[in-house]
Amino acid sequence: MIVTENKEMICENLKRSSDGELCFADMPLSPLAEKYGTPLYLYDEARVRHNCRVYLDAVREGFGEDARVMYASKAASFKQLYRIIKEEGLGVDVVSCGEIYTAHLAGFPLQNAYFHSNNKTDDDIDFAISHGVGCFVVDNAEELFAIDKIAAKHGIRQKIMLRITPGIDPHTYAAVATGKVDSKFGSAIETGQAKAITSLALTFDNLELTGFHCHVGSQIFDAEVYLATSKVMLGFVNDMERELGFICRDLDIGGGLGVRYIESQPTLDIKATVLKVGEEMKKEVARLGIALPRISLEPGRSIVADAGLTLYTVGTVKRIPGYKTYVSVDGGMTDNPRFALYGSPYTILPVFDDESIPRESCSVVGRCCESGDILQENVPMPTDIERGDLLACLTTGAYHYSMASNYNRIPRPPVVMLKDGESYVAVKRESLEDIVGLDV
Ligand code: LLP
Repeated sequence: MIVTENKEMICENLKRSSDGELCFADMPLSPLAEKYGTPLYLYDEARVRHNCRVYLDAVREGFGEDARVMYASKAASFKQLYRIIKEEGLGVDVVSCGEIYTAHLAGFPLQNAYFHSNNKTDDDIDFAISHGVGCFVVDNAEELFAIDKIAAKHGIRQKIMLRITPGIDPHTYAAVATGKVDSKFGSAIETGQAKAITSLALTFDNLELTGFHCHVGSQIFDAEVYLATSKVMLGFVNDMERELGFICRDLDIGGGLGVRYIESQPTLDIKATVLKVGEEMKKEVARLGIALPRISLEPGRSIVADAGLTLYTVGTVKRIPGYKTYVSVDGGMTDNPRFALYGSPYTILPVFDDESIPRESCSVVGRCCESGDILQENVPMPTDIERGDLLACLTTGAYHYSMASNYNRIPRPPVVMLKDGESYVAVKRESLEDIVGLDV
């Protein structure tokens, strides 16, 4: 098969063959649909590894050899992914017992995990300590007491960092903006709560405070947001050193780098962004006269998004004269709730395409009993689109499988990995038996 570059492609791992078939990770898509059925989540393993390496190289060059990349596994969490992340030498950010357990079963060394959440239950804390989670990112004062008590029961001194709200507006969609003072996450510098919790954290026998964490939002393209955030955080580090004598050893500046879903969005240069932040942070610590703490980044989306693609089969094509055309697929908001939730843009392409066929603007919709079950509006589709055609929704590696649901009792699609021209199942397709499995 001759694989050619195509101008419509938004990711490097997508091509169209000379006979018009879309290829992902150098594999034509129709045989995969045939083999595994649709809807189908595909992951390009080489792309995940590539993204991990770009980050690791960048942080080491930008912040020093001890800098860390903690993959935010909320973006996509299944055993095979934790194995890959482990092999690539990244740590992970986990937010629930489910993520901890999955990583544990995958053999992930949980001492390299940060445990987040704004509301860790006593059971969560106990579970995380029992599984050896390396560091808790403590959200609030109440949690300090709970972790201290449970750590004492286990006879350990638990390493913690404090989640700080730097008061930065990341200019992204509201559901993912977390750095502003009124956020549900963390303790704000502006209100004095950040200093108060730092001072309190230093008083517990069974807690070892190593530093601070922040995460201001997601799908951010502007490097200035990170420059401003790191400046505020280093200012806080400096204040805590001068005012409380606390030396911050670890500083996590979160994740959030944006990815390209549609042509009009930029492709962010991860390395250049990280190096720029590193350069500015080094200048700032020199100016303040403090040492640069060990820096961690927590990317999720930008590690896995462009490594993912979802395949669908077209069903009903409904034309309402003078209004619109609906193209229904065999998936929908159950495997991708992001348009319904955030109005997120996507690129959806026919797997086989003949550019000479005229286009019409369509709404690509799912099969759920809900009008809001839309994958994307205004998608240019060939006018001969019909039942049985395959469609590919691009850039679906982050927050798709992890946010999928069984709404309408629809089974979740499988996750199939692509590697060196071969494919293998990482997560099986849910069956109807799985759907009723917990019913009594
Ligand atoms: N660290 C923390 C503490 C976070 O809360 C998040 C994302 C990340 C790191 C990773 O951010 P990323 O690099 O993936 O942008 N469901 C939404 C995204 C929610 C993000 C939540 N936190 C979506 O589908 O867009």
